[in-house]
Amino acid sequence: MKSICLFNHKGGVSKTTTTFNLGWMLGNKGYKVVMVDLDSQCNLTGQVFGYQALEDDYFETFYRERQYISMGPIVKGLIEGHNLETIKVAAGHELFKTNNPNLFLLAGHLDVADLDAQITVSLKIATGIPATRNIVGNLPAVLKSIAEAAGADYLLFDLSPNVGGLNEVILMSCDYFIVPTSPDYFCLQAVDSFTKNIKKWKREIKKFKEENDIVDKSYAVHNSPKFIGIIQQRYRPRSERPASSFQKWIDKIDTAVNDKLVPELEKIDCIAAKNRIEDALAPYGLKPYNLAYISDFNSLIAIGHLTKKPIFELTESDIKANANVFGKALDTMSVSAEKFKKEFGDLTDRIVNITQ
Ligand SMILES: Nc1ncnc2c1ncn2[C@@H]1O[C@H](COP(=O)(O)OP(=O)(O)O)[C@@H](O)[C@H]1O
Ligand SMILES: [Mg+2]
Repeated sequence: MKSICLFNHKGGVSKTTTTFNLGWMLGNKGYKVVMVDLDSQCNLTGQVFGYQALEDDYFETFYRERQYISMGPIVKGLIEGHNLETIKVAAGHELFKTNNPNLFLLAGHLDVADLDAQITVSLKIATGIPATRNIVGNLPAVLKSIAEAAGADYLLFDLSPNVGGLNEVILMSCDYFIVPTSPDYFCLQAVDSFTKNIKKWKREIKKFKEENDIVDKSYAVHNSPKFIGIIQQRYRPRSERPASSFQKWIDKIDTAVNDKLVPELEKIDCIAAKNRIEDALAPYGLKPYNLAYISDFNSLIAIGHLTKKPIFELTESDIKANANVFGKALDTMSVSAEKFKKEFGDLTDRIVNITQ
């Protein structure tokens, strides 16, 4: 099983949407996938359940019945200092099945925010307080163990946009990570601060392990996740080329990644082999570390939310039933959905090539 985390501490860069799309496409290609919603805002869970669920008491029933595994009892068990087996048993009966037979969700919960606060403290003052200290390794261990028990080939983490302890522990415990970006000033800044931040995380986890005498090689926070690339979002093709205002930021972000982020990641052993990435991207005319340019989904996104499907799975009848379009506009939207199927299919092949 490979674990991949989609992370950028800037919000609204399509982390959640990309996790869902990538998970679905990996499922289409025959891989079994578990997505974990680790954002207390539960956007990924909302996408899978459908936005209708947010309006009625679906969530209340879902959490109360505990048939499906959710972060709620996991957070409780971790904070109360239970052991892994006890937490797994209390977590729920089974993983929630999406409408894709290979794709499963470990549903999110508001209480994940409490866990974040707890872990942030644990990382700083854990020595000598076993219950607190154990949360750091137990969180990724329990999630990996649940996914492994479900026979997952891929474990995907959707994180919240912050640099708290939970994100630190999950990112540093993953095999790989991808940074979704959007073409603007704030994202450029985010690439810069992420560079500083991951170095700090690496140091902090190393220190945490030393101070707590953690030498076990199988410890869940192995502390060397490999960066495989960025995904540049909202690339707006205008006769095959992005609008020039976007292009400026796309180029700047590309430069920041190659000149600042990558050299620093190399120093701390947090990057995948470059030739491997080159080999996976070259057939598509892409260079490291650009895994894909994803265009604006435009009006398809709203239909995706209504139907609980990724935009590339939308059929002509989905579009007709959920948007007041016909004739040429309908054709254009159907063609666009097909085009996204190719874009996400290719992106998924690249990621599989790099990670298998
Ligand atoms: N390529 C895209 N084109 C258009 N809208 C998008 C695209 N990707 C994401 N969105 C929308 O942008 C918003 C933020 O995306 P989301 O995936 O929630 O970002 P994050 O998880 O990084 O905060 C959501 O409303 C989502 O539907
Ligand atoms: Mg999100």
